[in-house]
Amino acid sequence: RIAGPCSMVLFGVTGDLARKKLVPAIYDLANRGLLPPGFSLVGFARRDWADQDFGKIVYESVRERARTPFREEVWRSLSEGVRFVPGSFDDDAAFDLLAETVRALDEQRGTGGNHAFYLSIPPSSFATVCEQLERSGLSTPHQGSWRRVVIEKPFGHDLASARELNTIVEKVFPADSVFRIDHYLGKETVQNLLALRFANQMFEPVWNANYVDHVQITMAEDIGIGGRAGYYDGIGAARDVIQNHLLQLLALTAMEEPVSFDAQGLRLEKEKVLSAVRLPDDLAEGTARGQYARGWQGGEEVVGYLEEQGVAAGSRTETYAAVRLDVDTRRWAGVPFYLRTGKRLGKRVTEIAVVFKTAPHLPFKSTATEELGQNAVVIRVQPDEGVTLRFGAKVPGAQMEVRDVSMDFGYGRAFTASSPEAYERLILDVLLGEPPLFPRHEEVELSWQILDPIEQFWARKGRAPEQYLAGGWGPAGADAMMRRDGREWRLP
Ligand code: BG6
Repeated sequence: RIAGPCSMVLFGVTGDLARKKLVPAIYDLANRGLLPPGFSLVGFARRDWADQDFGKIVYESVRERARTPFREEVWRSLSEGVRFVPGSFDDDAAFDLLAETVRALDEQRGTGGNHAFYLSIPPSSFATVCEQLERSGLSTPHQGSWRRVVIEKPFGHDLASARELNTIVEKVFPADSVFRIDHYLGKETVQNLLALRFANQMFEPVWNANYVDHVQITMAEDIGIGGRAGYYDGIGAARDVIQNHLLQLLALTAMEEPVSFDAQGLRLEKEKVLSAVRLPDDLAEGTARGQYARGWQGGEEVVGYLEEQGVAAGSRTETYAAVRLDVDTRRWAGVPFYLRTGKRLGKRVTEIAVVFKTAPHLPFKSTATEELGQNAVVIRVQPDEGVTLRFGAKVPGAQMEVRDVSMDFGYGRAFTASSPEAYERLILDVLLGEPPLFPRHEEVELSWQILDPIEQFWARKGRAPEQYLAGGWGPAGADAMMRRDGREWRLP
């Protein structure tokens, strides 16, 4: 699938995301032959740059971060379509110039009036930029062409602000031209969850409350907040990744088989799950939050969150959050979904573990099964992508002794082709106009509906998050939360 003639206008070109992910992904797409020959990239920012200056930045980020080999001819053809428009978001003249630039590309590079506007900027600027795109005529396609807008999270900081944002954006762009990026949905392993569940016969019959004891969804990071205090402080772990990535993983794990894998089919099933999510009756017992303290990681001493540059003194922002959610459907009645995420944890790992009930009867001596745990299907989202099955096997020898073993499927070993970066897949889908991997506003709002009461509870309680040691596995409160349910977090 190769994208047809088009260009992409990138707002926020000076940001981290553009430099580290978006620009390299565009080059990789070009390198894989998935972009049209005249594809053009227009940067817009408040910088006194000419096309060549922006071209240089693009070049550097490609050389530094692209995953595919550098090829002179690919770069040459891409760089010929690089343009830059200087200006601030409230500058009418700059947007008029942008409109002119884009029109000129239609003629010079044959972009056909098809333009995607990528808003890699803080949501507080969405309204101004959308209004400018409308005012300058950029949001309105001429006949037979398309205009699309891509927005990056955070989609608001609570339900009310998310609704407001959605209204603003959808006033200018019709709902089917709005592409909300949740980059987890672009990950191969996340899409493989759908293949695992719906392309096979052996998992789905046991994927329910009759057999499943509980589900653990973990997104652990070893990094701290790096230079992102400006964004992160005041937002915290739950808003940063539970509201989007982790609830999307929950929805994909719990949903029914969609009628089809088109956008409508998928979104409908995910929304049904999100609507059925129930919060713990007692939020003090069913949630936990923490903040990393000074500690050791990878043999190096690292500072605590409060010592990070740019973090407000005495900040109560959590860098770790855990929550127990129930999904009130026949399939999942009584099966808790435990979600946890944190910065500066023991290692970087994202996984979904579906943990099964113990066998109803064991025809062995109790001493023979002391090392037998619960069966589990673990979807290893990253970094060691694959799937693990955990089950009991007989220990070799004269005795009947049963112990847990693992059976692994690893992407690296099973397939020779390397997985494209999530952003590659998503940018290509935007240019192709393929919406299934982009949450629509209903999903975003449903997710905020789940998170809002938790955030309000934490704010009401007014307590500082519990400290945990950098390099460990989170605050004691999170372990206590599991223990109250008679369970334990898995050690990934
Ligand atoms: C982003 C969060 O959405 O996901 C970051 O804002 C986080 O805080 C990042 O570090 C993790 O992404 P990945 O793909 O490395 O798991």
